[in-house]
Amino acid sequence: MQDGLGRTVNYMRISVTDRCNLRCLYCASHPTPFIPHPDILRYEEILSLLGLARGLGVAKIRFTGGEPFARRGFPGFLETVRDLYPDLDLRLTTNGTLIGPHIPLLVRSGIKRVNISLDTLDAATFLRITGQDLFAEVRSAIDQCLTARLKVKMNVVAMKGVNDQELPAFLDLARTHPLDLRFIEYMPIGGSSRWTPWSVWPAGDILEAAQKLATLTPVESRAGDRGPARVYAIENGLGRLGLITPLSSHFCATCNRLRLTAQGNLRTCLFSDREYRLRPLLRHPKLGLSAVERVIRLAGMKKPLGFRLLEERKGAEPVCQTEMSAIGG
Ligand code: 5AD
Ligand code: SF4
Repeated sequence: MQDGLGRTVNYMRISVTDRCNLRCLYCASHPTPFIPHPDILRYEEILSLLGLARGLGVAKIRFTGGEPFARRGFPGFLETVRDLYPDLDLRLTTNGTLIGPHIPLLVRSGIKRVNISLDTLDAATFLRITGQDLFAEVRSAIDQCLTARLKVKMNVVAMKGVNDQELPAFLDLARTHPLDLRFIEYMPIGGSSRWTPWSVWPAGDILEAAQKLATLTPVESRAGDRGPARVYAIENGLGRLGLITPLSSHFCATCNRLRLTAQGNLRTCLFSDREYRLRPLLRHPKLGLSAVERVIRLAGMKKPLGFRLLEERKGAEPVCQTEMSAIGG
């Protein structure tokens, strides 16, 4: 599917729940009410949307949350998706706290890549960021995934005064482990985020500091697998360093994604609160999938350039009010 600006849309991120067992300070620091269960898309509804999206040219799906494994039945759902749509490229974003027992199932379901969020290598800082004392679980989940030969991206939200002291330790981890360490600039998203302009640790600064600690060589991304990260090989290292710069250098021109929130709202841009409510159409006795398809196409035509929305906002205002835990990153 092409959008109104000629961008190819072939990637959908699907949040399967807004619930999460962590309360990361950049995502869900204040308690916000959970979406009531009847308003969450049922697995069968997600399955029919997946079939539709596939027909429109979506080839890559990422399941996110909240925390996807916090939703009951998620592992079985993954197996069903794999059985129904063996050609889809399935990926996951998880906080890693609950994934351990399910790793064999992921391998069996042909999921080859997982993104695990881990913003620190220090247990006390982990508790400060997430509100839970689960550092060891996540750290071990990363090792278990690597042992199972899954490709792991470790997502680090780069925050001044929180994890900017840890660059040497992060680089050591990426040297000694075959994973992609990815710093993501801290974005002003969600009414409960504690974002301030001073808490952003800009990717340019990270790169400059990292170059003093390691010899880095830019890696050309393969055509067709071009994500938003700028990736560097680390000399004598097993892993790589990636920088994702939504604030300092946007990648809107090549954005290929749509997002589906847990309650079935389609979002065409992370930085826009505009949502297209698909659930009422799906549940309507007469409208159903053909109406949903029309709305997805229309939404695609109106997919904006998010950096414009970022530029238009004032001061430390979040660029969108919806919590990141409902959008899924
Ligand atoms: N800024 C940057 N990244 C964020 N994430 C969540 N909230 C923010 C934010 N405000 C990222 C987390 C997680 C993914 C789901 O989204 O790192 O990996
Ligand atoms: Fe949960 Fe992920 Fe949000 Fe942290 S960032 S609170 S792990 S949904």
